[in-house]
Amino acid sequence: MISLGIESTAHTFGIGIVKAEDNIEVLANIKDVYTPEKGGIHPIEAKEHHEKVKEKVLDDALQKAVIELADVDLFAYSAGPGLPPCLRVGLEFAKKLAEGRKLVETNHCIAHIEIGRLMTKCNDPVTLYVSGGNTQVIGFASGRYRVFGETQDIAIGNAIDTFIREATGKNLGGKYFDEMAKKGKYIELPYVVKGMDLSFSGIVTAALQKYRKGEKLEDLCYSMQETCYAMLTEVTERALAHTGKQELLLTGGVAASQRLQDMLGIMCKERGAKLYVCPREFAGDCGANIAWTGMLAYKNGQKTVPISRADFYQRWRTDEVEVVWL
Ligand code: FE2
Repeated sequence: MISLGIESTAHTFGIGIVKAEDNIEVLANIKDVYTPEKGGIHPIEAKEHHEKVKEKVLDDALQKAVIELADVDLFAYSAGPGLPPCLRVGLEFAKKLAEGRKLVETNHCIAHIEIGRLMTKCNDPVTLYVSGGNTQVIGFASGRYRVFGETQDIAIGNAIDTFIREATGKNLGGKYFDEMAKKGKYIELPYVVKGMDLSFSGIVTAALQKYRKGEKLEDLCYSMQETCYAMLTEVTERALAHTGKQELLLTGGVAASQRLQDMLGIMCKERGAKLYVCPREFAGDCGANIAWTGMLAYKNGQKTVPISRADFYQRWRTDEVEVVWL
């Protein structure tokens, strides 16, 4: 069976093609990412980007996979959560491609978990999903992926990007933040964990205030890194303790941070759990995770959606999905 997945919830327009017979193979995973010249993500600009690149991304994916569109057995699309203008591009493209064929709706957050499980071979993890748009601590319990903790405001990746952008005037991103943090020393910043939830926007504000009062950028990057990652590690550890699970899966764009991997690694080691880090190519938003999760759901009895009733769900929560395959 060959499944084609479409991702378009935010910055990324991606098409992935997955083949599952005796073994599972990712035949293609092509993406084109919108990067705003100034400011944060602009939904209309992102939508225009996706419209512009979608046909090319599809062609490249089919070429890479060495298949024709007619060879695809199942189409899956990322139906939410995300930005409505962006979601609509993926939905309409999916409807067009899947005309007269099989189509399934896929939850973006759950797709991150499923590709992580596939790639790292972990079985029943607590997942820390950290990206520009999402920050969630998730674990499977009684039929659903439950959210044990999450951000109450902005996602960790957004917090880092916003701080760097406001301080430097440029969209330099997480890599620059990591490099600066290596040179810094600690300055106190607010540590905001409320029960199992986290909050990052006050930390960004406090760091920017200190920057404008003359504190060094590298010191603030280091302090923000240490503070925010310690918060994530604390909540994740409590989810492991609460669920009794022995595996931790780290995924999402921020999973690339070596310091976050190190902190979680130490925590896992201390409690006899194992850390699995989703490989970079599949940790960020992409089409392969949608193709794979759609196939998994379909093969385990999830119903296809009639083209006329296919839709997107801006705030589709992780725990609203009935996980038929576990
Ligand atoms: Fe994502």
